[in-house]
Amino acid sequence: MTERLTPAGLDRAAALLRDGALVAFPTETVYGLGADARNARAVAGIFGAKGRPHFNPLICHYPEAEAAFAEVRADDRARRLAAWFWPGPLTLVLPRRPDCRVDLLAGAGLDTLAVRVPAHPTALALLRAAGVPVAAPSANRSGQVSPTTAEHVLAGLGGRIAAVLDDGPCAVGVESTVLDLTGAGPVLLRPGGVPVEAIEAELGPVGRALPLSAAAATASLRSPGMLLSHYAPGLPVRLGATAVAPDEALLAFGPALPGAAVTWNLSEEGDLREAASRLFAGLRWLDEEGTARGCPGIAAMPVPETGLGAAINDRLTRAAAPR
Ligand code: TXA
Ligand code: MG
Repeated sequence: MTERLTPAGLDRAAALLRDGALVAFPTETVYGLGADARNARAVAGIFGAKGRPHFNPLICHYPEAEAAFAEVRADDRARRLAAWFWPGPLTLVLPRRPDCRVDLLAGAGLDTLAVRVPAHPTALALLRAAGVPVAAPSANRSGQVSPTTAEHVLAGLGGRIAAVLDDGPCAVGVESTVLDLTGAGPVLLRPGGVPVEAIEAELGPVGRALPLSAAAATASLRSPGMLLSHYAPGLPVRLGATAVAPDEALLAFGPALPGAAVTWNLSEEGDLREAASRLFAGLRWLDEEGTARGCPGIAAMPVPETGLGAAINDRLTRAAAPR
């Protein structure tokens, strides 16, 4: 059962978030499906509850700019935009700081992180009470439209999440504008609640990633180059391993094959949610350990193609692709 909370239940919602549960909450744009962004299992739970087929990177929500800028490196442009538009429907993509607490899965393994300070008073109160960065995509099943009421949320996610914090319909109703500030010039990744003209008035010309169509922008974001270039292991990856050589590094799923030089188990119990939450960290760790031990490569055991397994296999396939 999904608890339906009113703003009077805000402390309960915050406690659930801190406990690693999934809580939908209103923002000025759409209802978000929130999870503690530091908690790998909670973040993996977002992908599971939504049935999101790919690990698209998630936006992290903060109660004020300084909290966001403790996790990402903000340049002068970011600070100016934050002063103008936050709280509000603008998401900034910025480089992660080395000590960023946000789980790798929340950022889909990228070296960048999307951050925003929403303008909804209940969202801000929740973020303050929770005291943790909150990763939140729109609170809908994958492939459905974004929810702007608690009823929409329950229609799609009822029974799949711990609670929804109901504070009526969302004011903006379209998602935030996503602006990439990691390059020399700002680039619009998604038009949204803050018109690009308003951003250009502050920053000057903004590049458009979108005339190619939203589909193309999404495709480029999901492309191996963009998604994997930052975390693809240096060591070659061998898929579908049913035996392992003594000098190989092993990415295990379920009972581990015996005899590897070094092993990272995604989930001894064969739990796909746990496996998803440990995938990016495991690839990085095996790459480091395997390289240090002179392993020629990483052998990956088969993962079932169901549920989150499809996303895990998608990423493993990209990691194993020739480059
Ligand atoms: O209004 C909104 O932004 C809502 C509310 C809940 O805040 N959230 C939302 O999240 O729309 P979502 O997951 O549906 O959309 C996030 C968008 C996606 O297009 C994603 O690809 C992009 O932001 N994004 C997130 N992190 C990124 C990154 N590091 N680099 C590039 N794009 C990123
Ligand atoms: Mg969405």
